[in-house]
Amino acid sequence: MFLFFAGAKIKQRANVFKPILNLKKMCNFAPCCENVIMQEKLNGILQEIITAQPTNKEQLENFRLKYLSRKGLLTDLFEEFKTIPNEQKREVGKKLNEVKTAAENKFNELKEKLENSTAQTTVDFDLTAPGEHSELGSRHPLSIVRNEIISIFSRIGYTVQDGQEIEDDWHNFSALNFPEEHPARDMQDTFFIDVSNKKNSIALRTHTSSVQVRLMESGKPPFRSIMPGRVFRNEAISARAHCIFHQVEGLYIDENVSFADLKQTLLYFAQEMFGEKTQIRLRPSYFPFTEPSAEMDVSCFICEGKGCNICKHSGWVEILGCGMVDPNVLENCGIDSKKYTGFAFGMGIERITMLKYRINDLRLFFENDVRFLNQFKSAM
Ligand code: DAH
Repeated sequence: MFLFFAGAKIKQRANVFKPILNLKKMCNFAPCCENVIMQEKLNGILQEIITAQPTNKEQLENFRLKYLSRKGLLTDLFEEFKTIPNEQKREVGKKLNEVKTAAENKFNELKEKLENSTAQTTVDFDLTAPGEHSELGSRHPLSIVRNEIISIFSRIGYTVQDGQEIEDDWHNFSALNFPEEHPARDMQDTFFIDVSNKKNSIALRTHTSSVQVRLMESGKPPFRSIMPGRVFRNEAISARAHCIFHQVEGLYIDENVSFADLKQTLLYFAQEMFGEKTQIRLRPSYFPFTEPSAEMDVSCFICEGKGCNICKHSGWVEILGCGMVDPNVLENCGIDSKKYTGFAFGMGIERITMLKYRINDLRLFFENDVRFLNQFKSAM
């Protein structure tokens, strides 16, 4: 019984091998067999090439890479061709060349076709549909005015300096000639962050004048810069006051800078900003860091000095503080006050924007109501 089964299995295995043995016999062993296999392979590839339909440049490039590039199929086939016995080479070589020519022709033909077709012939969207409307945004009015101030001063050689919003006592007060415990500090209700070290407490800067100090400490005169930025004061929020607002500081230090230079610079600024008929008026004032100090008014550009609500019927509107930099400030920043003089000025961007666009509530700047912001599209 056992023997019978064993014998049957051997018989079965012999059947499995039979077709291969027959094929080898038919084609005079291995060389002929290789020829048949290669021919079949080439026919398959030829068919693939004929039916390939690259429809864009990317697909055509993939076609080239697959068949015609140095690492492509045809290179492999020519390598394989070398291993074919010489007597088979003629037949296989003929087929191989046929495949190569087919690939090259197909590539050239499609390349020309794709290059000549300027537009895609089929699109999957409706070309006649109306375009999608995209809403154009607007710049914030404070940015519009800040950029205008920068542009006016850059035309007379002022560079723009940036400072930090968190300041120490030295840069915000002491170096600017505010003595400790002096009531002048009360003019600027301060957000202190850290008062543990009384002499050098940390605070949110109350004005951009601190950047003057940083600028002068960091280099040598001459300095001619404007310093725009955000400032913070502990104020109750109302239509006329806010705990956050923006200023632009100006500083010009060089040899022989006089009050006349200050006046002329600010007149130029006022006329560029509010119109060429604008006049300026300087009223004596007090700031610890300038001596003498002044507040500057511009003639009311709305009523042209005749008197209106905006200028409270005075014909003038106040826009900034200014003065000649106090020699103490120069010395605090390591600058020889006998050799150098200069002037400084500081203005609120909100104030100028409110005047220019007749905005009557400061809170509008911070609410980001699109009905408000949309009104500045044309002013960009
Ligand atoms: N820092 C002042 C303030 O915030 C404004 C100011 C006044 C700046 C006079 C100046 C200046 O540079 O000279 O009220």
